[in-house]
Amino acid sequence: MQQLRVHPLPRLVAESDLAGSTVVVIDVLRATSTICQALTAGATEVVPFLEIDEAIAAAESDRANVVLGGERHGKRIEGFDLGNSPSEYTPTSVGGRRVFLTTTNGTRALDHARQAGRVVVGAFLNLSAVVASVQDEPHVDILCAGTDGRESREDILAAGAIAERLIAHDRSSWKLDHAADAALAEWQTRSDELAVEFRSTPGGRNLLAIDMERDLADCARINALSVVPTLDTARWRITGNCQQRRNP
Ligand code: MLT
Repeated sequence: MQQLRVHPLPRLVAESDLAGSTVVVIDVLRATSTICQALTAGATEVVPFLEIDEAIAAAESDRANVVLGGERHGKRIEGFDLGNSPSEYTPTSVGGRRVFLTTTNGTRALDHARQAGRVVVGAFLNLSAVVASVQDEPHVDILCAGTDGRESREDILAAGAIAERLIAHDRSSWKLDHAADAALAEWQTRSDELAVEFRSTPGGRNLLAIDMERDLADCARINALSVVPTLDTARWRITGNCQQRRNP
């Protein structure tokens, strides 16, 4: 039987408990949506960093080919090229270049999955593509980034949407844990307008407070993109559409 578990926050699961599993990391608002957008726009790779200083130091030797992106308190970091809005990541701004990304919660969730057998980046933007890429895996863990250490409903909704699609074909082949059942139930109570739903979630409220309402609509575009960003944990880089690759 295939197993699906949902972790509403990284601190609710030990890194070692994800070892060998296929982990879908979700930070709908906005890190994982932005990663999907950056790779679709032609970035050669996205490298996640926990700290601002680390990203700046790593970029120094190859500055012309690196785009520094990310946020603190939702806003572009001083000295960085881009913030964390998906719409900033265009063929002009990132095409053919590497993106070094540091964000408050999303890049931390990616770091938490470093022992996984396979790590893919999920969002509403690439919902069906992610589902197709993990559909046959025996163990799937959905790891939600949350917002500032709290569960974030936009991530739970995405987890529920993935769960719904995974079990649609053959419910009897999947065993869901309690949190996966809860995410599924949450997704089934949503209203039609995802962007409107986001207005009352923790991540959504933070973005509204800094006048980034457009990002809610941009991150709510279900299946707008077909990329499946995959984190190579050995080389520590995310590239697009490497569905079959497993970490050693
Ligand atoms: C995060 O990693 O928590 C997000 O990047 C937050 C944001 O986009 O403002």
